[in-house]
Amino acid sequence: MNEKNSKILISASILNSDLLDLGREIKILEEAGVDMLHIDVMDGNFVPNISFGSALVDSIRQKTDLFLDVHLMIKKPDRLLDNFIKSGADLINVHVEECPHLDRTLDHIRQAGKKAAVALNPSTPVNMIENVLGRTDMVLIMTVNPGFGGQKFIYDMVYKIKKLNKSIEDHKKHSSSPKKHIDIQVDGGIKMETIPPVISAGANVLVMGTAIFKAEDPVEYINNIRKKVSEILPGLV
Ligand code: DX5
Ligand code: ZN
Repeated sequence: MNEKNSKILISASILNSDLLDLGREIKILEEAGVDMLHIDVMDGNFVPNISFGSALVDSIRQKTDLFLDVHLMIKKPDRLLDNFIKSGADLINVHVEECPHLDRTLDHIRQAGKKAAVALNPSTPVNMIENVLGRTDMVLIMTVNPGFGGQKFIYDMVYKIKKLNKSIEDHKKHSSSPKKHIDIQVDGGIKMETIPPVISAGANVLVMGTAIFKAEDPVEYINNIRKKVSEILPGLV
């Protein structure tokens, strides 16, 4: 398993948080010790919903030192990359379905000193990103169709995570400039029940929105998630 030695990281999605009290929500997430904040940018065009822009990323940056993981669900993300680079994102995630020159897009993000990630919709095959693994810090396997929080996890994506893991292993073995580490992120319907299959398949960055914010006590819920992970993969939380 490629990610056997990777720490399991929790990226909390603020999409379904109390947006009018976002500062307080972020404090709770800091207290719970999440590893990243996942910020879903939606344009009402690539996905049938509208959410946030770079101005919100900018405001969040002023409020927290947490790592900011920005997921761009927008048409033609190249047009707006510099806005997000300037806004203080730490990682920028583009969808392969919207990037005809993905090499160039990922290089642009990395040259700006940010981590670069690429996301795949559930129907997009893993081989779409095989040729850019050398310039990718993280691959996001969408485990729901993007656009909304609170959707049902698509179980067929477990097999896709395994395929991606194998591709990353092949890349490490055969590329002339192999990348030492590539994170595998999962996003959509991730909660206590769906974590065992995804981490066993090789995912190591868990995006969670509804599960955290619907929990009676988000801090306790995140602690329980860490306990669950350490039962399955001791030493990796
Ligand atoms: C969906 C977004 C997700 C969403 C996940 O398009 O990309 O990040 O917030 O929410 P849950 O965890 O509720 O599925
Ligand atoms: Zn997302």
